[in-house]
Parts: sequence; C-alpha cells; structure tokens
Amino acid sequence: MGSQIGNLFPAMVLMALISFLVFHQSFLVAGEETGKALIAKTCNQTEYPEECISALGSDGGSLSANLTGLGRIAVEQSASKLNHTLSYVDSLVKNETDYLTWGFLAFCRDLYNTSVNQIQEGLQAFDQLKYDKTYQSVDAVNKAVIDCNKQGLGLLTQVNTALFRLTKDAMMIVDLLY
Ligand SMILES: *[C@@H]1O[C@H](CO)[C@@H](O)[C@H](O)[C@H]1NC(C)=O
Ligand SMILES: *[C@@H]1O[C@H](CO)[C@@H](O)[C@H](O)[C@H]1NC(C)=O
Ligand SMILES: *[C@@H]1O[C@H](CO)[C@@H](O)[C@H](O)[C@H]1NC(C)=O
Ligand SMILES: *[C@@H]1O[C@H](CO)[C@@H](O)[C@H](O)[C@H]1NC(C)=O
Ligand SMILES: *[C@@H]1O[C@H](CO)[C@@H](O)[C@H](O)[C@H]1NC(C)=O
Repeated sequence: MGSQIGNLFPAMVLMALISFLVFHQSFLVAGEETGKALIAKTCNQTEYPEECISALGSDGGSLSANLTGLGRIAVEQSASKLNHTLSYVDSLVKNETDYLTWGFLAFCRDLYNTSVNQIQEGLQAFDQLKYDKTYQSVDAVNKAVIDCNKQGLGLLTQVNTALFRLTKDAMMIVDLLY
C-alpha cells in the first residue's frame, strides 16, 4: 500500500505539472497571443498579407508583440519607409535637370515632407491610445502617395507602391485596435 502511493506520487506531480502547463499555455493563447501565428492571423486581415508578413517579420520585436505591439511596429515601419522615400525623392529633385519633371518631383517631396510630421504625431497619439488619430495620420501618408502618383512619375512607381501597401496594411492593423 505504502509503496503503491510512493509510486503514484511522482506520477501525480507530473500530471499536475502537465495540466498546469496546458492551462497556462491556453491562457497565454487566449489573453496574449504572440509570435508567428499572430503575425499571420493579423496580416491575413490586411490588403497585402505577403508584404505585411515580410515587413513585420523583419522587426525583431514583432515575435513577442501582441496585437497592439504589432500595430505600433507597423506604424513605425510606415514612418521609417516614408523617411527613406522622402530622402530618395529629395535626392532625385536635386539631380533633376528637366524642369517639368523637377516640378513634379518637388511636389511629391513637399507632400512627403508634410506627412513626416503627421505620422510622427500619429505615433505620439498611439502611445496615448488615440488610435483613431494614428489611423488618420497613416491615412494622410497613404493619400500623399496617391496624390504623388497622379504626377505619373515612372521613376517613383516602385517606392510609391511599397509605401502605399505598407501604409494601407498599417491602417488596417490599427483599425483592429479600436
Ligand atoms: C486567412 O483568412 C482566410 C479567410 O478569410 C481563412 O480561411 C484562413 O484560415 C486565414 N488564415 C490564417 C493564417 O489565419
Ligand atoms: C500588449 O503588450 C503591452 C506590452 O508589450 C502591454 O502593455 C499591453 O497591456 C498588452 N495589451 C493587451 C491587450 O494585452
Ligand atoms: C523620420 O524623420 C523624422 C524627422 O527627421 C524623425 O524625427 C523620425 O524619428 C524619423 N522616423 C523614423 C521612424 O525613422
Ligand atoms: C544624384 O547625383 C549624385 C551626384 O552626381 C549621385 O551621387 C547620386 O547617386 C544621385 N542620386 C540619384 C538618386 O540618382
Ligand atoms: C522639410 O521641411 C522642413 C521645414 O519646412 C525643411 O526644413 C526641410 O529641409 C524639408 N526637408 C526636405 C527633405 O525637403
């Protein structure tokens, strides 16, 4: 009898440990889903899932982020892409010799320059949980891309497409937060 209990005891401890781990795991999934599965599930609700997964996957912080964290990373990435696009367009403006093309490029540069402050304010709004303001700031960048594209500058097609998709997806993720 005594030895039987002695044999059962470790097994009971093990079972208790397993059920604790299983419970803890499902609790984690329900309350604080993170990792690749959350990135896939979140990006699946955006317009450009592949670009979304590749963008979020390139940020080390996204694997441990919850949905709110992914939203902030997406907006940061939009801001960073906007900065790079602005400096690229600015370098084109400085090199352009054709007057008409120069004018179109300068128009886009000024649009993007204005958007930099807007999305910066959008990031501050994010930290104050004013997600609707963040959404509007990213929307402003997205609209700037559309306005720039209307100039029909072939040399901006690639960078504009990337910025358009990144901002569109960021808007859709921020939209999930409120
Ligand atoms: C993505 O969404 C589709 C339908 O909207 C669904 O069938 C699929 O399971 C989803 N995939 C993920 C990874 O959530
Ligand atoms: C998401 O994670 C942040 C910290 O990374 C935490 O402050 C916040 O409460 C979490 N949000 C939810 C809804 O769990
Ligand atoms: C973008 O540029 C602005 C102004 O130069 C700067 O304040 C901001 O930190 C930059 N943002 C990112 C994400 O690089
Ligand atoms: C602009 O011209 C400079 C100097 O000629 C060159 O180094 C730079 O790569 C050019 N920028 C672009 C975007 O073509
Ligand atoms: C953006 O605008 C600010 C203020 O109007 C100006 O100082 C800055 O040089 C501009 N940057 C570019 C790249 O045009």
